[in-house]
Amino acid sequence: MAMAMPRSLPLLLLLLLATPFLLSLSLASARDEDLDYIIDNAGDIPANDPEGWLQEGSPEDDSDSDSEDLFDDPSSSSDSDAEIDEAHVVPLTASNFSSFLAARRHAMVEFYAPWCGHCRALAPDYAAAATNLVEHNLDVALAKVDATEEAELAEAYGVQGFPTLLFFVDGVHKEYPGERTKDAIVAWITKKLGPGVQNVTTVDDAEKIITGDDIAVLAFLHSLSGAHSDELAAASRLEDTVNFYQTTSPDVAKLFHIDPEAKRPSVVLLKKEEEKLVVYDGEFRASSIAEFVSANKLPLITALTQENAPAIFDSPIKKQILLFAVASESSKFLPIFKEAAKPYKGKLLFVFVERDNEEVGEPVANYFGITGQETTVLAYTGNEDAKKFFLSGEMSLENIKEFAQDFLEDKLTPFYKSDPVPESNDEDVKIVVGKNLDQIVLDESKDVLLEIYAPWCGHCQTLEPTYNKLAKHLRGIDSLVIAKMDGTNNEHPRAKPDGFPTILFYPAGKKSFEPITFEGDRTVVEMYKFIKKHASIPFKLKRADSSVAQTKSSEGSGPADHEKSSNLKDEL
Ligand SMILES: *[C@@H]1O[C@H](CO)[C@@H](O)[C@H](O)[C@H]1NC(C)=O
Ligand SMILES: *[C@@H]1O[C@H](CO)[C@@H](O)[C@H](O)[C@H]1NC(C)=O
Repeated sequence: MAMAMPRSLPLLLLLLLATPFLLSLSLASARDEDLDYIIDNAGDIPANDPEGWLQEGSPEDDSDSDSEDLFDDPSSSSDSDAEIDEAHVVPLTASNFSSFLAARRHAMVEFYAPWCGHCRALAPDYAAAATNLVEHNLDVALAKVDATEEAELAEAYGVQGFPTLLFFVDGVHKEYPGERTKDAIVAWITKKLGPGVQNVTTVDDAEKIITGDDIAVLAFLHSLSGAHSDELAAASRLEDTVNFYQTTSPDVAKLFHIDPEAKRPSVVLLKKEEEKLVVYDGEFRASSIAEFVSANKLPLITALTQENAPAIFDSPIKKQILLFAVASESSKFLPIFKEAAKPYKGKLLFVFVERDNEEVGEPVANYFGITGQETTVLAYTGNEDAKKFFLSGEMSLENIKEFAQDFLEDKLTPFYKSDPVPESNDEDVKIVVGKNLDQIVLDESKDVLLEIYAPWCGHCQTLEPTYNKLAKHLRGIDSLVIAKMDGTNNEHPRAKPDGFPTILFYPAGKKSFEPITFEGDRTVVEMYKFIKKHASIPFKLKRADSSVAQTKSSEGSGPADHEKSSNLKDEL
């Protein structure tokens, strides 16, 4: 994939998510920090994108796949605009925007563009959220502004990408930070407006919740106020995307499958999904309750989408098992995968990546170095140490379970992408691949400079003759190794590129520490000074032989050993 490698998967997905509006508005400054971060760190990205590299691998604007809601309530998917009941979404224009806001204490406004696929995907959820909030009699209105019609208004509110959701309290706004789903929007607004925990006193209300919320937390208490209620409220503030309820009514408790005779306080999490009910059995403390909700709010298997990627990757459960399968194969493997997931609920996240889904399939497969279309099961330790493990052998229930168990117990051997180890490696610049990195780069007896490059990267190509020259000058110094690694085909946890090229220095005797990143001008002189400064083993260049020191044109192809250090001396 011709794209600078962002550090983490969520960043990658954010980049893809952001690409359509980057292209259409040709913004030089990206909309959010993460994107800036990627661009700042990519090292090889021209500001105005003349080569169109940003388009590489980006989703088509309207490629939102119907199948992305595989495990969600089908009524919330975006099949057809005709089904959307927008009765409670108020359209606004510049002429009535201010008067509308002046009349409301709370409002959410969506700035959208008709051509934007993510806006269309949001529309049914947004409409359903509006309806839900009206039904709950909440003092809030949901509105929308066509930013292509109202460009000045959009600009006045700093809108740079679509959709942008702003939440106004007495006319003061902030951007809505959550997931773009009905439940997340409703839960977030409800929290903003209310005390965090809602009382459920009648069976009618309880039924409304059970049919209306995809996920809800209910506590069965002795009293609707007091210490337990306060603790629950605190937990609800820690967990932004789920509605919390409390009741003292045994009849309500019964509807939530709590035994009315059960001890109080007790807490359950109810999901519309097939497994339905999770009973909390920990201590009645805010942080543990919030943790329990966070760990259990995701379904048994989550189908990865751009929208839910943050929830998946920010989950307190870091370890994931990912299933990659094309849509036509998934009906065969998903039931097995789901069965395998059951014993590991709350311990491992099981994620399904639809391999042929344009939006996530290809970029995520690429991120993990998966090239083929065949069904693959992969274990991933999360973005922090980013180790991955492949399931080998048959994709059977037993095998997947065993794999998951071994993964939990840290018994698996991590997989690193690697080119074959080169047969001979006696050029000035040593070739490092995933499999020989330990030997060459982490050799405690050597100071090692490693360039991580990508074959397609322009700055890497420009650097190459300079890098070769540096290596040639330093050829005679045994304690020093100048090396390079193709970062698109090779990986290692101790050599992570921050865009291409990344130049890292590993001083001798200090290999267990983080390498030092070279950030100066990429000239022979600057790199030489950098090595000199950080090398554990001091070295000296041999004196220049003045008779050959004049040959300035020996770049990269200098034949004679005896002119070893002459060019460098010239440049110094
Ligand atoms: C604002 O004006 C537009 C266009 O005239 C209209 O469709 C919309 O209903 C108005 N909204 C309100 C709240 O008056
Ligand atoms: C729930 O009931 C308690 C006790 O009557 C009350 O103090 C609290 O304000 C109520 N909460 C809501 C959200 O109405």
